[in-house]
Amino acid sequence: MSTPQTFVIAGASLAGAKAAETLRAEGFEGRVVLVGEEPVRPYERPPLSKAYLRGEVGFAAAAVHAEGFYESSDIELLTSTTVRHLDPVGMSVTLDPGGDLAYDGLLLSTGATPRTLSVPGADLAGIHYLRSLSSCDALRAALGEARRLVVVGGGWIGSEVAASARQMGTEVALVETASVPLERVLGTEVGAMFRDLHSDHGVELHLGVGVEGFRGQGSAEEVVLADGTAVAGDLFVVGVGVTPRTELVRDVGVKLDNGIVVDEYLSTEVPGIWAAGDVANAFHPLLGVHIRLEHWSAALNQGPAAAQNMLGHRVAYQKVPYFFSDQYDLGMEYSGFATHWDDVVYRGSKEDREVIVFWLDQGRVVAGMNVNVWDVAGDIAALVEAKKPVDPERLADVSVELSAL
Ligand code: NAI
Repeated sequence: MSTPQTFVIAGASLAGAKAAETLRAEGFEGRVVLVGEEPVRPYERPPLSKAYLRGEVGFAAAAVHAEGFYESSDIELLTSTTVRHLDPVGMSVTLDPGGDLAYDGLLLSTGATPRTLSVPGADLAGIHYLRSLSSCDALRAALGEARRLVVVGGGWIGSEVAASARQMGTEVALVETASVPLERVLGTEVGAMFRDLHSDHGVELHLGVGVEGFRGQGSAEEVVLADGTAVAGDLFVVGVGVTPRTELVRDVGVKLDNGIVVDEYLSTEVPGIWAAGDVANAFHPLLGVHIRLEHWSAALNQGPAAAQNMLGHRVAYQKVPYFFSDQYDLGMEYSGFATHWDDVVYRGSKEDREVIVFWLDQGRVVAGMNVNVWDVAGDIAALVEAKKPVDPERLADVSVELSAL
């Protein structure tokens, strides 16, 4: 009888959990070992800046699978366990606790970690980062007591936390170095919609200005901005981006460049090693470039794709990038990937925030975002996928069906 194969998944994340589920669903009969350093079973992060943070739902609403799933699926979930070392030649990892474990296939779904601010006073108490469940629990408890929150960074974390805190009745100030929130992804023009959204909900905005440092006796009491303004608060949240967690694969021959470089099959150049989720900088056949997607949907879909490839099926990952956000009464979905565009087309009312925004490059839709308009994400993704020139006037015309374009 041959020895059963062992697949190890480093990172009990959404990507890791979905990969483990897929291995079993595809009939893999060997060992599946899912290793995570947190004490809880895998969970999804979107609720951590929304309903879970506000205390509206509990852990079960965020968990990827119901309790008991891993046991009943014969998936060895090792919580509070860290993968310390990788030997790609001997094909083994060292677990802490647990020691050495040989693998036939290894999936790296180690995610990303918040970038920290290195300014004077950054280590004062009362300055929070939001990433893990435990960091969310700490912030959730602090929010219950806080009168005035200062958010540093107007990206996705900053925008969603600001909205949640306002919904909980907390005063909020938001500091962002760019001229509008979410500028990196949406651009200045569309980001202005979100500036107005937060301002309409009473957020005090400090835009186009960086942070010099924090001041306070023991715990942070104010953040000092580059223009000298001091913004006072009794709670601070920093969301200034993340760094992919690649420490395990440093110096082992796996190519690193803005994360772990993988091909469209989510495979590294080292035999037996794949990567998925926030850590993976994957070649995207539709876009023709490598992209690292720091969003829920990439973790959700790349995990299963990686598992398929670990089983020897050739499944290229080429889904149109997608993410969503909810802030106050605004819900949005974004499909596509726009780093460069020469036109922005609105379909609907930008003022009422009931609109689809399209980003065009040389007449082709490279991304679209539906704001409080629903059941159109599939049509938008199809336009991005088609890569065909579209008539901007028809694109803006609500009487023309999107599917007819
Ligand atoms: P981010 O990259 O979305 O935004 C970081 C923001 O911080 C940028 O707007 C940047 O201009 C700003 N910034 C950088 N340095 C600054 C400084 N010194 N002072 C003030 N502002 C500064 O990263 P974020 O918000 O930390 O989110 C972390 C990760 O979680 C991202 O990968 C994000 O995509 C993901 N996420 C996604 C969500 C969604 O899809 N709805 C929700 C929450 C997080």
